[in-house]
Amino acid sequence: MLQLQELLQERYQIQRQLGNNGIRQTWLAKDLQAKDDQNSLVVVKLLSFGGAIQWDDLKLFEREAQILKQLNHPFIPKYIDYFCIDDSHLWFGLVQEYIPGKPLKEKLHQEGKFTEKNTQTIAVQVLKILSYLHELKPGVLHRDIKPSNLIWGEDNQIYLVDFGAVQDKAAKESVTFTVVGTYGYAPMEQFGGRTVPGSDLYALGATLIHLLTGICPADLPQQDLRIQFTDYINLSLAFENWLKKITEPSPDNRFSNANEALNALQSGEIYFANREIKHLDIKDVINNSGCGILNKYAQVPDDILGWNWGAFLMPCLWLWTNKVWPGLICFVPIIGFVMAITLGFKGNEWAWKSRRWRSIEQFKHHQKGWAIGGMMIGAPVSIIFWLFSLSYLLDFIF
Ligand SMILES: Nc1ncnc2c1ncn2[C@@H]1O[C@H](COP(=O)(O)OP(=O)(O)O)[C@@H](O)[C@H]1O
Ligand SMILES: [Mg+2]
Repeated sequence: MLQLQELLQERYQIQRQLGNNGIRQTWLAKDLQAKDDQNSLVVVKLLSFGGAIQWDDLKLFEREAQILKQLNHPFIPKYIDYFCIDDSHLWFGLVQEYIPGKPLKEKLHQEGKFTEKNTQTIAVQVLKILSYLHELKPGVLHRDIKPSNLIWGEDNQIYLVDFGAVQDKAAKESVTFTVVGTYGYAPMEQFGGRTVPGSDLYALGATLIHLLTGICPADLPQQDLRIQFTDYINLSLAFENWLKKITEPSPDNRFSNANEALNALQSGEIYFANREIKHLDIKDVINNSGCGILNKYAQVPDDILGWNWGAFLMPCLWLWTNKVWPGLICFVPIIGFVMAITLGFKGNEWAWKSRRWRSIEQFKHHQKGWAIGGMMIGAPVSIIFWLFSLSYLLDFIF
C-alpha cells in the first residue's frame, strides 16, 4: 500500500487517492519535474502485478497507456509517462494530466439530479468526443462510459477519462475475449464480446438516464431489455424518444454513429418506435408552449430566453406570426417605441406562451429568422426613418 507523500520514480509525489477498484489504484500526485508549478498535478494509475492480477489486466493496462499516448483531444487527459517498479513486487504505473473538476458521479451525489438542459449539454459534449474517437483510423471504442469516468471540469467542459477498457480496432481480439464494461451501462452485445461504436452510444444513454433520474440504470425496471425511465422524469418528447433510441437493445436500432445522434439531438427531431422521423402536427405537441401570455405558472425553457432583435427591430410585423397581440401598441406614436423595447426584452417569453410550438428547436429557428430579418430590413428602415425625421426637424427649426 502506498503512503501519502511517497515519491515514485523520484518524480511523482503521491497526494490523495482518487480511486481503488481492487486491481488498480488511482492517485493524485505532484510532478516534481513539471516545468510549470501551476500545472504540476498529475494522475498516477498503478497496477500491482501478481497474485490475482492476470495477464489480461496487464494487457488492458498497457493498452490504456498506448492508446492515451496516441490521443490528442482537448477533453481527454494527455499522456505523460509509463513506468514499471520492481520493488518487493512488480508495479506498473501510468501517468496522465490531471483534470481539475468533479466526476459526474460525485456531482450527482452532492448536488442531486441533473436538469434536462444540463444533461443535453453533457450529451452534446460527450458525443463530440466519441465522434473523434470512433472516427480515428483505426477507430477507438471506450467501452466504459459511465458517470465516474466523466469529469465536469472547472472550465465547465466535460472530460472523458479512464481508457482502461478501451478497444483498439488495430489490436485483433483473440478468440478468448476479455469482458469489460460496467453492468447497467454496458449494452448486451458487449457482454457477448461484440462491441461496436453503438455500444458507447448505449452507455452514454444509460449514463444520461442515471443523471436525470438519480437511479443507477441497473436498478431501474426493464421491459424487453429496454430501460424503463419515463415514470421517473418529465422530459420533452423529443429528448425522451432520443434517449429511448440511443438505448435500444439492438445496436441496429440505435443511431448509427455519434454524429447522427448529435444531429438528432441538436435538431430536436422526434423519433418513434418504428424508427421513422416525424415532425409533429401542432395538435400533437406536448409541451407548455401556447399556454397563454398571462399564464404565470407555466415554465418557459431557459434556453429560449434572451434579448430578441427580431422583436425589437420589427415589432409591427413580428407580432403577426407569433400572435403577441399586445405588440399592436407599437403602432401608437411615442408609446410604440417603449413597446418595441419591451418586446425586445419579453418577446421570446410572450411568443413561447402565445402560440404552440413543435419543439424548442423550431422556436429558436423561427426567432433566429426574425432576428436576421430585423438586422437586414428592420434596422436600415429604422435608420432611414430617423434620418427623415431629423431632417424634417432641422428644416422646421432653421
Ligand atoms: N485524468 C484525470 N483527472 C482527474 N481525475 C481523474 C483522472 N483520471 C481518473 N480520475 C479520477 O479517478 C477515478 C478513478 O480513475 P479511473 O481511471 O476511472 O480508474 P479505474 O480504472 O480504476 O476506474 C475516476 O473516477 C476519476 O474520478
Ligand atoms: Mg473508472
